[in-house]
Amino acid sequence: MPESISAGIHDLSFATTEFVLPHTALAEHNGAEIDKYHLGLGQRSMSVPAADEDVVTMGAAAAAPIIERHGTAGIRTLVFATESSIDQAKAAGVYVHSLLALPPATRVVELKQACYSATAALQFAIGLIHRDPTQRVLVVASDVSKYALDSPGEATQGAAAVAMLVTANPSIVRIEAQSGLFTTDVMDFWRPNYRDTALVDGQESITAYLQAVQGTWQDYRAQGGRPLEAFSAFCYHQPFTRMAYKAHHHLLDLNGQDAGQATLRQAIEPTTAYNAVIGNSYTASVYLALTALLDQADDRTDQLLGFLSYGSGSVAEFFAGTVVPGYRDHLHTARNRAEVDRRKPITYGRYRALHEQSLPTDGGDHPTPEETTGRFRLAGIRGHKRLYEKG
Ligand code: HMG
Repeated sequence: MPESISAGIHDLSFATTEFVLPHTALAEHNGAEIDKYHLGLGQRSMSVPAADEDVVTMGAAAAAPIIERHGTAGIRTLVFATESSIDQAKAAGVYVHSLLALPPATRVVELKQACYSATAALQFAIGLIHRDPTQRVLVVASDVSKYALDSPGEATQGAAAVAMLVTANPSIVRIEAQSGLFTTDVMDFWRPNYRDTALVDGQESITAYLQAVQGTWQDYRAQGGRPLEAFSAFCYHQPFTRMAYKAHHHLLDLNGQDAGQATLRQAIEPTTAYNAVIGNSYTASVYLALTALLDQADDRTDQLLGFLSYGSGSVAEFFAGTVVPGYRDHLHTARNRAEVDRRKPITYGRYRALHEQSLPTDGGDHPTPEETTGRFRLAGIRGHKRLYEKG
């Protein structure tokens, strides 16, 4: 590809769930001080999927506005990133492909590495575009974060999907070539195939995340990446929004720079608005941070953004992107805000019932209750096959 052609994010949209549980309701149930959630974790509420919502319905809803705006021309690849997989064989993206009526001449694949895999998808997409700049790649990152009831992780749950159209000469963010990588075998967070809730060593996971910040940054610089001063804001993976502050504090310390509250707030606060009310959306989280930043009133034109994508286990990547002039005309700001605001608050009891619910495994015909007012719904399961429909 000629040097003058860049690649990156041309369109960006997200979807979340029908329901929301405020942290006040969780604190009332378990007796925690609300400041632990609001200040200690930086979380105010969590998205809760209805019985007829899952990673497919959220992923399709996130991608639909992109397809409506740009059509399907040039899309020959759909990469679906998730760690909330619904099938061991079939890629969830195939259902999204069907719901969005994408052309049959498309390759569809699902990627997994905890919260990191959407970044792998983005990098793979950029590789494909470098091979053929006429192609566009649809990346969908969709997850439901679920921990055991009454466990410390419960307060960090959430659910959302982000969709990105990755193209040559993008309209929103140009992604730079240098990237810092870090992989190490650590059991900080994992979910064996026989469980629907994650297992986690909370403090170990925070240490492992900070170790990955250091590892990726050192590699990024060794690869010729830019100095810290070049960046104006940082989009971190946000399992809870306070984690982004901890991570950035660590990065500033590593560079011998002042990590005062004002410096931290300036770099991080504008990235937290969606994650603070949605909760951990695993693969989608770092791109929700980007969406929140761009949806803010401040003009980010030509600013350099740092991205830190972390997936437990662990794999992480630090990379940079520049905001493209005119980007604001290509955002879905009003729709994004409405997507968050349309969620219906539920009681703790209703949340608990939804948490304990799972699809029957007997192969029978089981319609799901009609709960979501979203664009797509899981209509039921019949003969072990999931049935989706437009809502
Ligand atoms: P915990 O034991 O419930 O909470 O676990 P804590 O006692 O550590 O308190 C949390 C913070 O609240 C602390 O702040 C307290 O001081 C503060 P810190 O010292 O850390 O700065 N606090 C208060 N602040 C104000 N007023 C109060 C108050 N009380 C306490 N009254 C933990 C917290 C995050 C460990 C838990 O929620 C957990 O296990 N979460 C899940 C794991 C996780 O999110 N790990 C993050 C890094 S790993 C990652 O990001 C990957 C992941 O997304 C998965 C993937 O990759 O797929 C998770």
